Amino acid sequence: MRPSVLFVCLGNICRSPLAEGAFRHEARAMGLEVVADSAGTGGWHAGEPPDPRAIAAARRQGVDISGQRARQVKAEDFRRFDLVLALDHDNLRNLRALMPKGAAARLDLLLDYAPGLEGQAVADPYYGDDAGFDLTWQQVSLAARDLARRLRHGEI
Ligand code: 4NP
Repeated sequence: MRPSVLFVCLGNICRSPLAEGAFRHEARAMGLEVVADSAGTGGWHAGEPPDPRAIAAARRQGVDISGQRARQVKAEDFRRFDLVLALDHDNLRNLRALMPKGAAARLDLLLDYAPGLEGQAVADPYYGDDAGFDLTWQQVSLAARDLARRLRHGEI
């Protein structure tokens, strides 16, 4: 069975699309087959592609995220995905409240998988500049790499 991971932020146009892109990229590099998706706890941007600044930040790293489309997280996600990873503490709290009783998904903070950044939030780059999006990429790709490695070794 391929491990399945859902990345969740607020709008699903900045941080979680970058996390999904970084995770797919790292998994592919390791030869690990995965199911990956991203969603927002909010639904304002449903149907939209990622923010152009997020698309550009990924492209600077050779990763194309332009085909992604935003959607809101739904109850079924907690049954479909093995891991549901929140980009910050607010979203983690909201996910805990949304999770149906009996659903088996493991809920964690994404950066708990990033060596040295455990317990930290990925700051929202939405109101910042391109450098903020590059920092987001660095943080999510650090987590994505260790997550893929641990899944590959059956540690998760
Ligand atoms: P994200 O950033 O959660 O990283 O996608 C945001 C994008 C849009 C909004 C909030 C956060 N918004 O309120 O529109």
